[in-house]
Amino acid sequence: MHAPDRDYHPETRLVHAGTLRSSYGETSEALFLTQGFVYETAEECEERFQSTTPGFIYSRFSNPTVAMFERRMAAFEGAESARATASGMAAVNAALVGQVRAGDHVVAAKALFGSCRWVVEDFLPRFGVASTLINGLDLDAWRNAVRPNTKVFFLESPTNPTLDVIDIAAVAKIAHGAGARLVVDNVFATPLWQSPLTLGADCVVYSATKHIDGQGRCLGGVILASEAFIQEHVHMFLRQTGPSMSPFNAWVLLKGLETLHLRVRRQTETAAAVAGALAGHKAIARLVYPGRPDHPQAVTVAKQMSGGSTMVALDIAGGKAAAFRFLDALKLVRITNNLGDAKSLVTHPATTTHQRLTAEQRAELGIGDGLVRFSAGLEHPGDVLDDLVTALNAV
Ligand SMILES: Cc1ncc(COP(=O)(O)O)c(C=O)c1O
Repeated sequence: MHAPDRDYHPETRLVHAGTLRSSYGETSEALFLTQGFVYETAEECEERFQSTTPGFIYSRFSNPTVAMFERRMAAFEGAESARATASGMAAVNAALVGQVRAGDHVVAAKALFGSCRWVVEDFLPRFGVASTLINGLDLDAWRNAVRPNTKVFFLESPTNPTLDVIDIAAVAKIAHGAGARLVVDNVFATPLWQSPLTLGADCVVYSATKHIDGQGRCLGGVILASEAFIQEHVHMFLRQTGPSMSPFNAWVLLKGLETLHLRVRRQTETAAAVAGALAGHKAIARLVYPGRPDHPQAVTVAKQMSGGSTMVALDIAGGKAAAFRFLDALKLVRITNNLGDAKSLVTHPATTTHQRLTAEQRAELGIGDGLVRFSAGLEHPGDVLDDLVTALNAV
C-alpha cells in the first residue's frame, strides 16, 4: 500500500487511494481485462514465479485493476491488507474456511444472513469443523460457547434483517481471551459508519455488491485484515481455489467507491427520515432503526457506529397478508432482495433471504411474517416517504 494513502481524509482516499497509473497516464483507472501477463525472458518469468521480482502473474492470483480496488478498500478501512473475491459469500466463506481445519470449533451469532448461516451451520461440520450458534447480543452466551478448540468467532452487526447491534469490542475481547479470532460481516453498517478492526476485530468482510457498488451492477466481495492474517489464512486459499474477482467488476467497484460517502450519507439521511415519519403509523407494530433513541441497543450504537443506517426494519401489523398488501401497493420502492442500492428497495425476509429457516428459528430471531426490510435509495426522500405512507395506508 502507498503510505500517503493513509494521510488523507476518508473521502479523498475513496477517490485516489491505491491508483496504479499505467504509462499512458490515464485519469480514470484502467481496466486490465487480461487473464495473465507476458515476460521478456524466461529468466524474468522464473523470478516472477519465485517472487524474487515483483509483478503480476495470472489474474486468478492478482490483477492491476483488482489490486487497485483492494488497495483502495484497505486504505479506506484502515486495514493493512485486502483481498477481493467474486461475491460477498466468497469473501465470508474464504475468511472462515481459510482459518479452520478438522477438529476446530467456530462460534457465531445465530442472526446471520441466510447463506452465512448455512456455511457455519451446514457446510463447516461436513469437514469436521464443529459450530455453535448463539444469541450474539448475550455476552455470556459467547463466553459459555467457548471450547478448548474454538478458533473463530463470527458475527454481523447490525444484523440482517432485524438491525440488532452487537457489541463488537466486547465480543472481540472474549474471542481474544479464548485464543480465538473475530470475523465481522460489516455489510449493514457500511465502511463509512463502522470500523470493526478499530473495535478489535481481526478480520472484516463485505459483500461489495451492496453499498460499495451501490448501483445494482455487479457482485463482489472483499476481506480486510492485517498482512499477517491475510498471509496465514486467506492468501493461499484464494489463490489455489480461485473465487477471484473479475477485473471488470473491480473497475465498476472502484468507480462505486468514489461516490460511496455521498451515497451512504444521503441514504442514511433518507432512512432516518423514513424511520422518524413512520414510527407512529398505525399499520406498523414495531420499527427498528439504529440511531433512534428507542433502538434496543442504542447505547452500543452510540459507542461503535459513527452514523445510523441506510436500512429500516418495519414489522407490519397483521402478518404476511398485511406485509404483502403493503409491498404490492408500493409504486416507486421496488420489491427485491438486494440492499444498499441507488433505488429504494424492500424485502420480505421470511419468504426470501430467511425462508430456509423454520418458522421457530425465524421467531427466535425476531423475523416475523410481518417483517419488511427497507433499504433507502438515492431518490428524493419526499417521493420515497409518500410511496411508503400511501402503501401503508392501503394495508
Ligand atoms: C450480511 C450479508 N452478508 C453477505 C452477503 C452475501 O453477499 P453476496 O450476495 O455479494 O454474495 C449478503 C447479501 O447477499 C449480506 O446481506
